[in-house]
Amino acid sequence: MNRVHIKTYGCQMNERDSEAVAAMLRARGYRIVASEDDCDVLLLNTCSVRDAAEQKAIGKAANIAHRKRKQPDFVLGILGCMAQNRGAELLDKLPDVDLIVGTQKFHQVPDYLDNIRAARAAGVPIASSIVDIAEEVGSQNTIRDHVLTQDAAAAAAGADGDVAMDADVPPQISAFVSIQQGCNMDCAFCIVPKTRGDERSRPMNDIVAECRALADRGVREVTLLGQIVTSYGRRDYVHTEGISPFVQLLDRVHAIEGIERIRFTSPHPRGFKQDLVEAYGRMPKLCGYVHLPMQSGSNRILRAMNRPYTRERYFEIVEALRAVRPDMYFSTDIIVGFPGETDEEFEQTRDLFERANYDMAYVFKYSIRSGTPAAVMGDQISDDVKEARNATLLGLLQKNSVRRNATLVGKVEEVLVEGPDKTGKKFTGRTRGNRVCIFDANPRLIGQLVPLLIERASVSTLYGELVLCGVEA
Ligand code: SAH
Ligand code: F3S
Repeated sequence: MNRVHIKTYGCQMNERDSEAVAAMLRARGYRIVASEDDCDVLLLNTCSVRDAAEQKAIGKAANIAHRKRKQPDFVLGILGCMAQNRGAELLDKLPDVDLIVGTQKFHQVPDYLDNIRAARAAGVPIASSIVDIAEEVGSQNTIRDHVLTQDAAAAAAGADGDVAMDADVPPQISAFVSIQQGCNMDCAFCIVPKTRGDERSRPMNDIVAECRALADRGVREVTLLGQIVTSYGRRDYVHTEGISPFVQLLDRVHAIEGIERIRFTSPHPRGFKQDLVEAYGRMPKLCGYVHLPMQSGSNRILRAMNRPYTRERYFEIVEALRAVRPDMYFSTDIIVGFPGETDEEFEQTRDLFERANYDMAYVFKYSIRSGTPAAVMGDQISDDVKEARNATLLGLLQKNSVRRNATLVGKVEEVLVEGPDKTGKKFTGRTRGNRVCIFDANPRLIGQLVPLLIERASVSTLYGELVLCGVEA
């Protein structure tokens, strides 16, 4: 009765929130299971950024609801952005959903599940579904230390408890660390300010303490997460000698022994100042991979999107970073078919996309999000045009990726060994440029930085052999 499966849609912040919910549930004696078919509780952690993402989760919930007829005790919950965006209205379509929990209330999930199960066990009929999408002051601090709660899980299970720690919780080498919640930028297309609320930063000391604790447990790579990390702490800390609070945070994480690699996502071009560019020159642990959302290469569209930078400024940042780290990898987010985007304006995007020479990109077809300014703009673009523009950029990206990977064949790259790959026969890890590698290794190397000779490459994956001196591969 206590097997929980969490299915996550959307971005890395959602992945991280799901990890945190899983850790809290383990600490309460729930088991997190990999199979959606063999669980007693299914939680869908949802995304609202595009309509397609919402429809996917709604479709899944509708399918699962049928299961309740066969398994009356089954619990179905919808968490996260779509819960926040649509609230109780979801029950019109999905009356069988037991739990709707918004983005500021993840920490309440264990209590709500306990209550539902206790009421059912006692045979008390539950009058209605639980819906909690309230705002909560300080909620950026309520989900933390997700890996640390393994201790709590062990305690909950007792000294010889049956929580299968090893099976359930593989050793974590790379971890997401939330540094900020919400966003105040109000990009004209974006639902995130509504679903994630006002921009709030976690205290620097808490973040550093979490990273230190992660390092003590064997985590070697941290990815600092926020909707607009370049604004981190702007209301809580001051610039010191031209160094922004975000770069101050990077400096402190960089000083932690055991943390070998630091990544972050996402910066905003507006806040990407010289202090951050220079950080790449002086912080060797900062991986040479920057995700820098461009959205559009047309200055008119950028203005209409309420993105306060120009294509010229965007490219200046890219060049400044390449000057500091010539082998820097870049990725981006692009929206094609924003209302009113002409062929010429798209051509500006294509041109900047080509010049920036991305190694990775997320290209989105503009999706109307009701309640956002762009939803009521005239001149919406047809699906065919969006599709064609999307295909153009993806074609360019594929070429870039193949070209970049080809330059790596025959070279030795530093790889952080993360664990077995999907087949369980080989091992997987990533380069500093975030390329996925597959290779033979010994489990003892998990968590180590090792040199890998790249022997061949596909569009997205590198295959190679470890170059080890005196260490058994
Ligand atoms: N600041 C966040 C953005 C979250 S949304 C971050 O960079 O992590 C992620 C991406 O989804 C955006 O960068 C944008 O490219 C895309 N997106 C947001 N709203 C969209 C919409 N209405 N239609 C299509 N794509 C959208
Ligand atoms: Fe969305 Fe723009 Fe913030 S894309 S998350 S409103 S920076």
